Amino acid sequence: MTQGSEPSSRLFTTMVLVLSGASLFLMGAVVSCMMPMMGMMGMDDKNDQGMMDQGHMKDMMQQMMGGMLPPGITPQDLPEPESRGAKLLSTYCTQCHNLPSPRMHTAEDWPRVAGRMLMRERMMAGMRGMMMQVKAPSSQEEETLLQYLQQHAMRALVPGTVLMPDSPGAALFQQTCAQCHALPDPKQHTALEWTAVVKRMRQNMKSMGRREITDQEVRDITAYLERTSR
Ligand code: HEC
Ligand code: HEC
Repeated sequence: MTQGSEPSSRLFTTMVLVLSGASLFLMGAVVSCMMPMMGMMGMDDKNDQGMMDQGHMKDMMQQMMGGMLPPGITPQDLPEPESRGAKLLSTYCTQCHNLPSPRMHTAEDWPRVAGRMLMRERMMAGMRGMMMQVKAPSSQEEETLLQYLQQHAMRALVPGTVLMPDSPGAALFQQTCAQCHALPDPKQHTALEWTAVVKRMRQNMKSMGRREITDQEVRDITAYLERTSR
């Protein structure tokens, strides 16, 4: 960190940068208000030490917005961990938060979610000398990344095809399991696998600050998924 800089205002500007990126318009606005501030903080573009230590930055992000960030998996849990896509994911997608699972979203949803992330990376990579150094993938790497995410994506239930909709647990499954991603297709797992997945999802609800399901709700949803599983 540069001497004499103000950590709080740096954190603020970083947060603004990280959160924006919803639209190019916003990006332009943020970048233009940033310029004078950067000058004031003595961060001209030759000053490459003006960056916050990455681990530190990630911790702060986790504390301030953990509920929006993916809880993270370990690199060994990535599908085809030796593939180029897995390597790119571990390189580019862990710069701000934990390693996201490609199975969190469907092939249909990934272009939207990953597009938002890649836009952030490009924007922050363009701001050399800011508090946090972010590397953006090349366009070819972006393509490989997206292909990898889509290839290993979650399988969603086709809307309107919920099996045994009147059976116990069906309504609870629909209310509970589409909060963070598309409603998953019960056929993608065996009964045994579902027990473990539902347990892990309960953990995800906790770490993402959602209402946690009760033991009884876990049993009801698991029982429903077992009946409709592969
Ligand atoms: C520059 C920082 C940054 C990088 C790099 C980054 N993310 Fe994120 N990510 C965020 C922030 C901030 C949020 C929370 C706000 C949001 O969802 O847009 C987030 C949230 C997420 C979420 C949870 C929200 C959702 O819609 O499911 C997923 C999944 C995710 N990121 C995946 C990725 C992937 C995949 C990559 C690599 C291609 C990536 N991120 C790279 C900053 C980043
Ligand atoms: C708080 C957010 C959240 C909620 C609510 C949630 N999930 Fe998830 N889900 C995730 C995240 C994060 C991942 C990716 C990481 C992982 O697999 O743990 C994921 C991945 C998945 C996957 C793909 C991974 C695999 O092992 O097949 C399935 C299937 C799934 N969820 C099913 C469910 C079911 C069933 C429910 C309802 C009981 C549910 N989810 C509720 C966050 C959530």
